[in-house]
Amino acid sequence: MSKVIQAVRGMNDLLPDVVEHWQRAEEISRDVLHAYGYREIRFPAVEKTELFARSIGRDTDIVEKEMYTFEDRNGDSLTLRPEGTAGCARAGIENGLLHNQIQRFWYAGAMFRHERPQKGRYRQFHQIGVEAFGMPGPDIDAELIFLTARLWNALAVDGLSLRINSLGTPESRALYRRELVRYLESRRADLDEDSRRRLDRNPIRILDSKNPAMREVINDVPSMMEHLDDASRKHFEQLCEYLDQADLRYDINPRLVRGLDYYTRTVFEWVTDRPGSQATVCAGGRYDGLVEMLGGKSTPAVGFALGMERLIELLVRKGGGVNDTKPQIYLAILGDLAVTQQGMKLAESLRDQGLRVACNCGGGSLKTQLKRADRSDARYALLLGEEESKRQSITIKNLRQGEDQVLIPQSAVVEHLKQRLA
Ligand code: HAM
Repeated sequence: MSKVIQAVRGMNDLLPDVVEHWQRAEEISRDVLHAYGYREIRFPAVEKTELFARSIGRDTDIVEKEMYTFEDRNGDSLTLRPEGTAGCARAGIENGLLHNQIQRFWYAGAMFRHERPQKGRYRQFHQIGVEAFGMPGPDIDAELIFLTARLWNALAVDGLSLRINSLGTPESRALYRRELVRYLESRRADLDEDSRRRLDRNPIRILDSKNPAMREVINDVPSMMEHLDDASRKHFEQLCEYLDQADLRYDINPRLVRGLDYYTRTVFEWVTDRPGSQATVCAGGRYDGLVEMLGGKSTPAVGFALGMERLIELLVRKGGGVNDTKPQIYLAILGDLAVTQQGMKLAESLRDQGLRVACNCGGGSLKTQLKRADRSDARYALLLGEEESKRQSITIKNLRQGEDQVLIPQSAVVEHLKQRLA
């Protein structure tokens, strides 16, 4: 026997029972997104490497060490998308959708990062992302946060809390960076290896260090809030007012920074309090400079992405509802070709009525077929044998409760089942 080929590490199969949770979450998310006027956009899973290097930033972990980059047969350097914002902005620019326009887009799909796999962190994972272009004010930042809050509500997930911060403009951040480096240099002896490495290239990311030994150093860093320019401060204060007005609770976390370089001003994250989960379920912020960086006309923009695996993990753990996709009815057929033909026809007419019907294919004894019916999770088995076929009747058997089986005319089967399945 040949050796079984296994999936790539960190890339998961999603089996039907879990997919039912995904489908419900996707459907509810779509409804919420459409309720706010967002429209779906689809763009390729592979882009030129330069797109991600330029937008996410060459000194970020993602670009430095997590991208799936390869040369195609023409020698072009391509990359599996590690996130959706860059591709969405590229598609918007290329299709002339952004300049002097307002756009609200959403997308869903697989993203790829070569991270160390663990629970909640995978190499292929899925995001639902939202990007709003052309709106410079804090009102749209607030709208996105309201949208996410509505989504948690609709999905009945609890235990998520909101953290916000402002990263200011590139200019105010440069000033802050200088101040931060000065402080960190003075504490160089207390920095871990990773932070020392980051000190020259991307010192603001040091604030995001998860190393407990770095906590004390980070607690004492100069405050980013105090280095904000006036317009960014006003933008942030107004955002807070919108959230206050809506009674939406949030924590201002002045050390909240993000792993992608394109952010300006508002950044936010929804984090779960459940132990054992990767904490950040949803994250995003404003990126007013990105479109121009990618060669488009300057366009303000803000967005977020939620990590589907992390969301579904919360939903499964909570035991929430699912979209039931299992067959309701299993049709067992025992007879010659003519009986099978009649059975297949009957199954089609039941499906015409909106019922989910699995039809026995491949023959088998009554016992075998009933075993398959039981395994299919259907509630009812229909039995069509030679006798039933001749009389245009059908036997109905409840597979889940000890009701007596009944023989009824085929013409009455829809009514009969609909009443019982209602
Ligand atoms: P991000 O913070 O890199 O932002 O990812 C957003 C979310 O995707 C995370 O909060 C997490 O839930 C999920 N996620 C990220 N990496 C993994 C992984 N390896 N395994 C499982 N889930 C993961 C972005 O991607 C930005 N594009 C968000 C954005 C949109 N900002 C503005 N617009």
